[in-house]
Amino acid sequence: MRSVLFVCLGNICRSPLAEALMRVKVQRKGIRLIVDSAGTGDWHVGEPPCENAVRVAALHGIDISGLRARQVTAEDLVRFDRLVGLDAANVADLKRMGAKNVLKLGDFGYNGADVPDPYFFDGFDGFETVFEMIDTCTTNLLRYLEEN
Ligand code: 4NP
Repeated sequence: MRSVLFVCLGNICRSPLAEALMRVKVQRKGIRLIVDSAGTGDWHVGEPPCENAVRVAALHGIDISGLRARQVTAEDLVRFDRLVGLDAANVADLKRMGAKNVLKLGDFGYNGADVPDPYFFDGFDGFETVFEMIDTCTTNLLRYLEEN
């Protein structure tokens, strides 16, 4: 079965949102695609998504509170057909680790823009923007994956 791994830095803000939004779309379309997420860093391994990510997802009817952060492994690089970085640093880190099939989420609807790291935002501001970016880009990415 085909598979996609979303990768950000901490795996507690952006990539869990991407995982959850993509999974909703995959289920809605009845497609078989494995969807997961991970972080390049290990600071938050085992933790649920950050409060504001849980909140913005809930406002859009998606419960991400059960997800738990994990770090990208060497096995992920070969196990997943596609690795999708949320920003340029994530993409560079994945390539440095030796990943071959790396895409950047912002290339699917935001002219290659980084999905900004909302962890250091002051409060909830920005999480809605990040959610909208991820929502649009995962829709377009799914269409691309169906065609490629
Ligand atoms: P994320 O946000 O990469 O979207 O999960 C971050 C979460 C935590 C840290 C950085 C980014 N951190 O440095 O702890």
